Amino acid sequence: RTLYLNGAWLPESEAKVSVFDRGFLMADGIYEVTCVLDGKLVDYAGHAARLQRSAQELGMALPLTEAELLAVHREIVARNALDQGLIYLQLTRGVAERDFVYPPAGTPPTLVMFTQAKNVLENAAAEAGIRVALLPDLRWGRRDIKTVQLLYPCMAKMEAKARGADDAWLVEDGFVTEGSAATSHIVTAEGVLVTRDLSHALLPGITRASVLELAAAHDVRVEERAFTPDEARAAREAFITSATNFVVPVVAIDGATVGDGKPGALTRDLRRFYIETRR
Ligand code: PDD
Repeated sequence: RTLYLNGAWLPESEAKVSVFDRGFLMADGIYEVTCVLDGKLVDYAGHAARLQRSAQELGMALPLTEAELLAVHREIVARNALDQGLIYLQLTRGVAERDFVYPPAGTPPTLVMFTQAKNVLENAAAEAGIRVALLPDLRWGRRDIKTVQLLYPCMAKMEAKARGADDAWLVEDGFVTEGSAATSHIVTAEGVLVTRDLSHALLPGITRASVLELAAAHDVRVEERAFTPDEARAAREAFITSATNFVVPVVAIDGATVGDGKPGALTRDLRRFYIETRR
């Protein structure tokens, strides 16, 4: 792979960052993941805007203009001849002596981008659906910022797998927040798509926003509100959304079958609409 590192294009074996990088020492960094389909960026505007917002919330400076950022995204696709897959962008506050105080203004940030080839259109999870385990949401209180503090999501996913599930849905104060790396949605017995309203409790999913637009365009009733684990277990359908998976059905929650245990009809429609409108 050819990576982007602070303005340079390097083979992955030569792309190195300092052991004093604040991303490594403090998890003082943010990231974005953008999907590539047929060599084209999917929902790029949303991901670029969320990156800007994450940086702003943490007082971090983006080292590239909007136009440069787009150009680098396009160039990394071209240099890696990426037809289907993902672009990861990692931005940290840069290299500085270890200190809880931020480094002085003007310290150059570290910006890394790399690609991952992946068949995003066809995969077993999209066909068969996934099983999720409910686990407590023990992450920090600003989950609306896409930071590289991913240890708890890793722990939750490991625990979910240990329980025989594929992934976790996280629960706080009696309500589902989101998945370990995806937005959680349910469809009620009345056919209403329910997804949690945005707040500091969850990441404002870019795929979530696109899917809500598609649902509205197809006259699906949508309620943006928190839902409980009981409501999720009793739902007709459940699914997750993310840049890495688009729309993926959830067929079991904590061992309880969702609907008839097969991917729901609305879920399958939304996945199809999403792919059709992004190609
Ligand atoms: N994860 N919630 C969390 C906690 C996430 O990490 C993600 C994305 C989402 C979905 O957001 P979007 O639709 O914008 O991808 C929701 C990325 C893909 C990841 O960490 O790999």
